[in-house]
Amino acid sequence: MNILMVCLGNICRSPLAEGLMRSKLEAQIDSASLYIDSAGTGGWHAGEAPDRRSIAVAIQNGIDISSQKARKLVKEDLDKFDYIFAMDQSNFNDILSMAEPEHFGKIHLFLEYAGMGKKDVPDPWYGNAGDFESVFLLLSEACEQAAAKLLIGRK
Ligand code: 4NP
Repeated sequence: MNILMVCLGNICRSPLAEGLMRSKLEAQIDSASLYIDSAGTGGWHAGEAPDRRSIAVAIQNGIDISSQKARKLVKEDLDKFDYIFAMDQSNFNDILSMAEPEHFGKIHLFLEYAGMGKKDVPDPWYGNAGDFESVFLLLSEACEQAAAKLLIGRK
């Protein structure tokens, strides 16, 4: 199962979603058949580690995302991944604009896929540590729900 988490910069939300989803699924699926990655629709931060505030909130909750490196979403990702999860509606629209009709079915608004409503994961980039904490908790719940759904879909 190949899963891609996508946000705008690939330094705040999608690195957390990548680390959280890995933590929820790695005990359930053998590592040879699980690949989880993240990317940004924008490439301004390509090559950078996640935002220090995302690294901090993750570490406080037992997840190390510090070795991740930001990269820009490329068209090949749409073939390579089985599930492409957009953190917000704007990311979703940007991914769709790169996609061919055969890709449409694998592109999802993440919270909607998780059964949490057609809502965005808010961008904490201009926020404070509390905003990163809120995003972490929201993503943790969403990853829990989405992981359960992905596992059912596999059987
Ligand atoms: P992210 O947050 O999409 O959750 O990684 C952002 C990071 C950087 C920028 C915007 C959003 N930026 O404009 O550089």
